[in-house]
Amino acid sequence: MNKPRKSWPVRPRQAKLAAVGAGALLIVGFAFGPAAVGAAAPPVYPAAEVHKPSPIPDRMILIPTTTPATSQRVSWRAQATADTAQAEFLEAPRALGQVAPAAGAVKTVRALASTPVNTTLGYASTYHTAELTGLKPGTRYTYRVGDGTNWSAWTDFTTAASGFEPFSFIYYGDAQNYIDSAVPRVFRQAFADRPQAKMIVNAGDLIDSANSEEQWGQWFKAGGFIDGQVNNVSIPGNHEYSGGLSAFWRPQFPYPDNGPGNAELKQTAYTLDYQGVRFIGLDTNHQSNAALMAAQTSWLEGLLKDNPNKWTVVTFHHPVYSTTGTRNNPNVRSQWAPLFEKYGVDLVLQGHDHSYGRGNQVAARKSTTVHNGVAYVVSVSGGKMYALNGGENWTGNGAEVRSTSENTQLYQLIDVAGDSITFEARYANGEHHDGFVVRKNAKGERTVNDLRTAENTVGEQVTVDKTTVRRLEQVRVSAYGYDPGEQVTVWWRDQDDASNGGGRPGGRNGTLIGEVKADELGRVQQTISVPAGVTSGHTYEVYLESEHQKITSPAVKVTQ
Ligand SMILES: [Fe+2]
Ligand SMILES: [Fe+2]
Repeated sequence: MNKPRKSWPVRPRQAKLAAVGAGALLIVGFAFGPAAVGAAAPPVYPAAEVHKPSPIPDRMILIPTTTPATSQRVSWRAQATADTAQAEFLEAPRALGQVAPAAGAVKTVRALASTPVNTTLGYASTYHTAELTGLKPGTRYTYRVGDGTNWSAWTDFTTAASGFEPFSFIYYGDAQNYIDSAVPRVFRQAFADRPQAKMIVNAGDLIDSANSEEQWGQWFKAGGFIDGQVNNVSIPGNHEYSGGLSAFWRPQFPYPDNGPGNAELKQTAYTLDYQGVRFIGLDTNHQSNAALMAAQTSWLEGLLKDNPNKWTVVTFHHPVYSTTGTRNNPNVRSQWAPLFEKYGVDLVLQGHDHSYGRGNQVAARKSTTVHNGVAYVVSVSGGKMYALNGGENWTGNGAEVRSTSENTQLYQLIDVAGDSITFEARYANGEHHDGFVVRKNAKGERTVNDLRTAENTVGEQVTVDKTTVRRLEQVRVSAYGYDPGEQVTVWWRDQDDASNGGGRPGGRNGTLIGEVKADELGRVQQTISVPAGVTSGHTYEVYLESEHQKITSPAVKVTQ
């Protein structure tokens, strides 16, 4: 039998406390809360101590090159000179430590660049970049960085495959605020959900104050070891600018220098192809500079027009369609959105609005749950929140917002496959928020399908090309949202007959038209004949039943 629990505090312990000195009492009392003993709040531990550099490398981050199958950049911070900063790498062995790498296996490269960034905390943070070259595609390597004496931990990554290969990546909106308190759990949960992610995309506003050593220190701590083993694709938001681009940006993010060519856009607009996906990063912080916008627009069009990759992902900070306040980015919308639509960009990943919004142009809508246009997303990973604006910046500009969220921190998991991209947004606690599947066929035709739910797979979702028909007349039926190849049964049934049971499939007043298979994009497009046995004056509906959906057409009236 369980004994009743003793009430706290337990008597013998109390007796023991009485016997010890005042100092010890204070410490024990602290465990119950400082207010109880009237202790003064401890001082804030100074940022200059928290973030001060040492010869031991920190802030390690993988930066992709334009040849990610055979080369890899890494940048880090350490008190080291340009003469000593270096990286060592080898194909990831089964063991290290007591087990020495095979003779000649370890390659050493000197840092390409070592750049001291003067900080406001009274010291310089020196960033180093090394490029590991001559790598084999799709191969796991381990590397460490240091000065030849003081080293980081050995850290693994896998090079890109030389051609298309399915992979996952993670996308974040603005981290920016509460970077040391609320952001880390988001980064950790995302990594826990996709530990094999090859890329992390940040759509700007990684931090709040462009040149704050403390905030950059917090941002790298939030990412921790993850950044050292997952490639990072970040573009700057307005908070990475303060009278010019953050002094930290280029030293710590040595992205490909392959942008439009303007000095201002060096490593803030860049591109790379990774296993069948073209990533394009743009810098929206120059919206009022016509020349820098025009340069990016023509560079963007060139990349979209001549693109051997099946998939295209574009990221920038200020969204095409804003979700909050009276925010509006007309130059981004008018100059870039037409190109995204024309050339079939798949995902446009944005930030700035500190809320979540996902939508598309209205003209692209094909059914309740499916469109065939560009998927535009705004998201936020950090703890600063803005209220939603009701979607007027979408609806006022020919678009619709399909999913929103406010006062939530999110991360996005994106799984790239040969025929589809699956996108899912989850909250900081790992719960599902929103998702969709992009499918594309060999002709470049596409559907963007909301993830199926109990609610969105029933009801009136079948399209018919006429709602008044005669006996034996042909009706064009279309429906969306299926799995590729899903088997669909087509029924014609009487809405006026009570014995139909309000939609009982195959009921006695339902006429089986036939079976059809959804195509590779999850579409059903079928011409059917109105059955001979229909009753003039009755209204009917087309009913499509499959494993995943039970959907109907609007009423179709038979006139004769
Ligand atoms: Fe922001
Ligand atoms: Fe912003």
